[in-house]
Amino acid sequence: MKTIFSGIQPSGTITLGNYIGAMKQFVELQNEYNCYFCIVDQHAITVPQDRLELRKNIRSLAALYLAVGIDPDKSTLFIQSEVPAHAQAGWMMQCVSYIGELERMTQFKDKSEGKDAVSAGLLTYPPLMAADILLYNTDLVPVGEDQKQHLELTRDLAERFNKKYNDIFTIPDVRIAKVGARVMSLQDPLKKMSKSDPNKKSFISLLDDPKQIEKKIKSAVTDSEGIVKYDKENKPGVSNLLSIYSILSGKPVAEIENVYEGKGYGDFKAGLAEVVIHTIKPIQDKYYELMESQELDDILDQGAEKARKVANKMVGKMENAIGLGRKRK
Ligand code: TYM
Repeated sequence: MKTIFSGIQPSGTITLGNYIGAMKQFVELQNEYNCYFCIVDQHAITVPQDRLELRKNIRSLAALYLAVGIDPDKSTLFIQSEVPAHAQAGWMMQCVSYIGELERMTQFKDKSEGKDAVSAGLLTYPPLMAADILLYNTDLVPVGEDQKQHLELTRDLAERFNKKYNDIFTIPDVRIAKVGARVMSLQDPLKKMSKSDPNKKSFISLLDDPKQIEKKIKSAVTDSEGIVKYDKENKPGVSNLLSIYSILSGKPVAEIENVYEGKGYGDFKAGLAEVVIHTIKPIQDKYYELMESQELDDILDQGAEKARKVANKMVGKMENAIGLGRKRK
C-alpha cells in the first residue's frame, strides 16, 4: 500500500474550501492508501495565536477530521507537536534550505506583506512542511491548489538531501483534485476562500448554522446578468457557486445549469444553500457528539504513538546521514 500524508492548520474555523479541496479527498483516499492526517499546530504559530483559542481549535479540528469521515482504523490521525520528530526533522530540512528560495514562496510573500514584525517561523514554514511529509516515506500528498508551490519545494529539498547526504527520502507526488482545488471567496471570487479572511461573509465554516449559511450564500457576489451559467472568465462568482453545488451534490454542472435555466440567482442560491446544509448537517451532528467524548482523546493518543514510531525511525536515518550525535541503529 502506498502512503499518503496531509495536514491542516488549526488556525481558525475550517471552511468549505478546506473540506472540498482537502478533507473530502482524504475520506475517499483512505480506503486505498496508508494515510497519515495531521493537525499541524506548529505551523499555526508562525502567526500570532491566542493560547486558549489554539487549544480549542486543535481539538475542534481533530473532531472535524473524524466527523467528515476519517476512520481511525484506517488512517493515523495525530497532532504535530505531539510527535517531536517533526520539529527535529524540520530543523534539519531548514539547514538544506536556502533563504532565497523561502523568500520566493507566495504564501510567505502574502502573509508577510505590509507587516512590521514577521516571525522567522513564517519564512521557515516550508522546510517544516517538507519534514512532515518526508518523515513517513510519503508517496502522495493530497492538497488544494494553494499548496502546490510548497510541494514543489518539498520535492527539491528531498532531492537535495538525498544527493548531499544519503538517498533516504521517497520523493512525494502532489495530488490536486481536478475540481474544487481552489474554492473562491464568496465576497471576492478572484480570491481563494480562506479561514483567515477577516470578512466572515467570505467563507462558509463547517460549523456555521443553517441560517448563517443561507445568509452568506444569499449575499455572495455574482453579476448582473441573471443567468446561471459556468463561465470562469466572465462570471467568476456564479462559476464558483456552480462548482460548489456540483461537487457537493455530485451532479454535473450542465445538469444544474438546466435546472435553473430561466430562473434567477435567488432560486439558484436557495438551492445551493440547501445542498450545503444537507452536506454539513450530518458532519455537525457527529462533531458535537465527538467533542463531548473521551474517544477523541484516545484516538489522538493512539495516532501520536503510531506516528512517533515511524517518524523517529526516519529522524534516526537523517541524523546518521548527516553525522549528528552518535551512530543510531
Ligand atoms: P491549510 O490549513 O491552509 O489548508 C488545509 C488544506 O485545505 C486546502 N485549502 C483549499 N482547497 C480548496 N479551496 C480553498 N479555498 C482552500 N483553502 C485551503 C489547502 O490547500 C490544504 O490542502 N501548509 C498547509 C498545511 C500543511 C501540510 C503539511 C499540508 C502543513 N504540513 C504537509 C500537506 C502536507 C496549509 O497551510 O494548509
